[in-house]
Amino acid sequence: MHHIILGSETDFDGWRSAARTLVLNDVTPADVTWTVRGHGPDQPETSTAEPPLEPPHGTFNVPAKFVELAKTAILHRDAERFALLYRLLWRLHRDHDLLDVADDPDVARIHAMAKAVHHEAQRMRTSIRFREIGREHTSHFVAWFEPQHHVVELAAPFFASRFADMPWSILTSDVCAHWDGHAVSITPGISEAGMPAGHRLEEIWQRHYAVIFNPARLAAKQSRNSPEASTIKPASESVTPPEPTMIRHADRLSALRDEAADCRACHLYEHATQTVFGEGPQSAQVMLVGEQPGDKEDLAGKPFVGPAGQMLDRALEEAGIDRKKVYVTNAVKHFKFVPRGKIRLHQKPNTPEIKACRQWYERELASIKPDLVVAMGATAAQCVFNRLTPINKNRGRLIDLEGVKALVTVHPSYLLRLPDEDAKAREYQRFVEDLKIAAELLRKRARAAA
Ligand code: URA
Repeated sequence: MHHIILGSETDFDGWRSAARTLVLNDVTPADVTWTVRGHGPDQPETSTAEPPLEPPHGTFNVPAKFVELAKTAILHRDAERFALLYRLLWRLHRDHDLLDVADDPDVARIHAMAKAVHHEAQRMRTSIRFREIGREHTSHFVAWFEPQHHVVELAAPFFASRFADMPWSILTSDVCAHWDGHAVSITPGISEAGMPAGHRLEEIWQRHYAVIFNPARLAAKQSRNSPEASTIKPASESVTPPEPTMIRHADRLSALRDEAADCRACHLYEHATQTVFGEGPQSAQVMLVGEQPGDKEDLAGKPFVGPAGQMLDRALEEAGIDRKKVYVTNAVKHFKFVPRGKIRLHQKPNTPEIKACRQWYERELASIKPDLVVAMGATAAQCVFNRLTPINKNRGRLIDLEGVKALVTVHPSYLLRLPDEDAKAREYQRFVEDLKIAAELLRKRARAAA
């Protein structure tokens, strides 16, 4: 029997190294147990192997997809996860295409675990509220979180880029994450029962401060998501080429929205708060497409709720279109920005990012089957027409596009940016006129249906 002891709950490298040795020694999953150091009173200090294992010779390949899934699923709290991952690795060694068998119980389980981990990391990103402590001396922002899975290290780089200019700590009973303006560090968790409210958090912080910031402990574990990982990469880097998109059956919008919440098709999800999916009725006859969520939309999780949204609402009303009856979405579903102090500066998405996200537009379109798609601005036009499409040359007329009508117009943010009031008023009127073309089409369809 082989008893493997991993260094921590999230010790993927330790699991990978042990698993590789075991597979290359032909050890069956039934002959291995997995635990984490420090769990259980009678646990030996290190792994034991009977019969002894040979140092691994040779190599074997597993699909890159398995490695990605395993790195995420190992963060699940299920104690069986290490054994499940080893069983999958063992089976993949014999059947390289195993992950394609969606109804295999082990395959289904690893996918469910990875999904739960992504959801929990997302919950952490959206629910943490920092409290400022020690204002008179050096202020520090502290938050308490109770993770359902081991996601603190996974989510920490998001807070490092989001709150880059303030020192913060996230305390949990698993591990604590700290940001000093330069690097993320991880220290052991704090055992507190339940979520401490208000002054209790301050008290816990004061009590643990010296222990947490003992330099020896800080050095004890460098986050695997250390500073390099937490800097925002230039726009052109790290975009995974989009999978060839295949429109299968038309999914309901609610199912698409759930699926898109875990989208990792390009790197933009890393720093955005959440996927901002489209919004509106399944039966909408008009689909409005913008560029990407802005700061307000990123926080609210809804498209066009900030200043550009207010401009859009006003123009829709003037054109005689009820926003509640149209479907409003964006070409790119994650907020792209660079942090500047406390502000997040909008960045235009590039072509690989637009392409990576287009699958969602295609699936929204297939799900709603609107009569008309309105592309607002150059990014939306590039997404809708699937190629660079100049606005001025194409705006203001209905264009036939593979069974749907398309209308090109400017983006409401363009109007907000115009410095000259006259030009602003003139361009706003042109925008309303463009939207009236959509309103007229809706009226015609309504008359025809009556
Ligand atoms: N700009 C967009 O293109 N979309 C939004 O949702 C908000 C601003």
